[in-house]
Amino acid sequence: MDIKKLLQKMTLEQKIAQLCQFSARCLVADETGELTGPAKDLNLSMKDIACCGSTLTFADANSMIAIQKKHMELDPNKIPLLFMHDVIHGYRTIYPIQLALGASWDADIVKKCSRMSARESAAGGVHVTFAPMVDLVRDARWGRCMESCGEDPYLNSVMARAQVEGYQGNLDSDEDICACVKHFAAYGAAESGKDYNTVDMSEYNLRENYLCAYKSAVEAGAQMIMASFNTINGVPSIANKWLLKDVLRDEWGFDKPIISDYSAFAELVNHGYCSNEKECAKAALDATADIEMMSVCYLRNLTSLLEEGRIKEEQIDECVLRILELKDKLGLFENPYRGANPEKEKALALCPEHRAIAREAAQKCAVLLKNDNILPLNKNTKNIAVIGPWSDVGMLGEWPAHGEPSETVTVIEGVKNALNNASVTMAKGCNGVLNELPDDELINEAVCAAEKADAVILCIGEHSKQSGEAHSRADITLSPAQIKLVKEVCAVNKNSVCVLFCGRPIVLTDIIDTVPAIFVAWQPGTEAGNAVADLIFGDVNFEGRLPMTFPLHLGQVPIYYNQMNTGRPKLVPNQIFTSGYIDYPNDPLFPFGYGLSYTSFEISSPVLSKTQMNKGDKVVVSARVKNTGAVAGKTVVQLYIRDLFASRTRPVKELKGFEKVYLEPGEEKEVSFEITEKELAFHTASGKFEAEAGDFHIFVALDSTSKDLVTLTLK
Ligand code: GLC
Repeated sequence: MDIKKLLQKMTLEQKIAQLCQFSARCLVADETGELTGPAKDLNLSMKDIACCGSTLTFADANSMIAIQKKHMELDPNKIPLLFMHDVIHGYRTIYPIQLALGASWDADIVKKCSRMSARESAAGGVHVTFAPMVDLVRDARWGRCMESCGEDPYLNSVMARAQVEGYQGNLDSDEDICACVKHFAAYGAAESGKDYNTVDMSEYNLRENYLCAYKSAVEAGAQMIMASFNTINGVPSIANKWLLKDVLRDEWGFDKPIISDYSAFAELVNHGYCSNEKECAKAALDATADIEMMSVCYLRNLTSLLEEGRIKEEQIDECVLRILELKDKLGLFENPYRGANPEKEKALALCPEHRAIAREAAQKCAVLLKNDNILPLNKNTKNIAVIGPWSDVGMLGEWPAHGEPSETVTVIEGVKNALNNASVTMAKGCNGVLNELPDDELINEAVCAAEKADAVILCIGEHSKQSGEAHSRADITLSPAQIKLVKEVCAVNKNSVCVLFCGRPIVLTDIIDTVPAIFVAWQPGTEAGNAVADLIFGDVNFEGRLPMTFPLHLGQVPIYYNQMNTGRPKLVPNQIFTSGYIDYPNDPLFPFGYGLSYTSFEISSPVLSKTQMNKGDKVVVSARVKNTGAVAGKTVVQLYIRDLFASRTRPVKELKGFEKVYLEPGEEKEVSFEITEKELAFHTASGKFEAEAGDFHIFVALDSTSKDLVTLTLK
């Protein structure tokens, strides 16, 4: 399609319409021909929607085909709609939440999951998914931890690339969908963990930590980017010209569509950044925002702004061209329905191959935190009690797209599937509501079940709906009811295992000394129960590692491993006049990168191919890792680097590489990482991204707490 020629024949009104995105509910009139619901709230007319550019949140292939068909009849230029959807961790077959995917430290399984959801959603008519979400997060109170791959820039960047590649492929198949990476930028740094809250930080911190994963997604070829709700240093992202134009477009070369988050244009008034929606339209257009999601600032004001000479038509043309280019790239002018296929959509949904991928991912994401030789449980156990509020609840996780809890394997079902002729009983023990106080009747019922059982599986933590958008929590400890339940059950049955479901780090300090074994299952998705059972009975081994620090106390939050040393580091407990607390240590309960296995591993001290390097050189650092246990297993060998002295203070260590390694019992393997200037570079005081001469501590370790280092000098 010659889109420049198409642009020339479009009226101003039709151009402006291309910049508007309304949900599918807005596009379907009721039997009286009236627009209802959100369309009414936005005071939309049929004329307003006739030429709009894109839609979001539609039901399935059939509805997509019906909406597109009607649209092609209405649009005088026959410009197809772009269909966008929140396919965050699956479409019909739901795999673990992103935070869990971060815990897998396995880009291959992450890519495989994204690929699966691209296939399913493309058949459902999706052209663009509002994913991956790559917002770095350090504050476990934030509800959207569950959508992020955690606290580290490097791990988030690796997973961002894997997801973009998984979704998009080469965009030459109708099973490929476009990735719209979000939320640009630094949405996860909301003050006090409150969603949508203020973000205020130095450009140094922004570039060193918060922008990395978006850049990785852009470099991987993400076809769109979504600006975030929050302000950055006093300017809301969607109107932030420095962020969207200077950094994203001019510095990174991103020449594709930028979309707002839901009604974020209009919210510029709430921010106190624009006095009315006309000013919102001007500010967003000047920042080069292309698509306005679910508000009408562009629709209602661009014409008058143009007539007043406050904007140029070229600005509108640039936005329209970026949108038409994407439609052309997807071949929509030739086939507006692209991959939409109701029969294929139905056939792929929850098919055995996809369930197997979801199950494998859930196995790989789980992190074993403690095991006092309780796990794995014996499959010949005759009597198992599954206890806790989430025993029979489908743990899909928030943003489940078209996944259904009813199609989700619960723990009780997974345990019954795994055991042939065992008695499996269940007791809720409590209801799982936040801050719930103990109900003695429920506790006693659970204690009775535990007393009669050979083994107990406790299912505790957060329900899927207790994290996610607009679900930040001030208190991330377990409820008094869950704490009492765990203590009373473990008191009567020593053979008790805890499964923690959560969309964020939870403070486990109240129970960690009581439970003999506990692992984080996160929110594992469709195959939750089967994967939990696979792990508990030892059919698979644990291989996950924490992508976020688990605090010892709520008051430590935000807590993360790659903090600065400060001028008064607390090097030994109770050292006064140092950076810390008088009532708790600085150390977390479980650190970034931590996780156990059914076997054990040892790693040698790191060895450098040379201890000095010049700019332009590369050095190899190696270590030997050995499986010192009795069963095969995987561990994650992690490369951390510390820049000891620099023109800006540098973190005590930073992840710069990792490799997951499979080892048979007794087997050992040398793992090596290349170190070049890139691994040593940072945003210096002179504003360049480069390495500065000096000494660096190099760690090759099995989690972020290692003190075993070797020193490299960059000359
Ligand atoms: C929401 C979310 C965003 C999502 C969008 C469309 O408010 O912030 O992540 O993609 O609206 O549903």
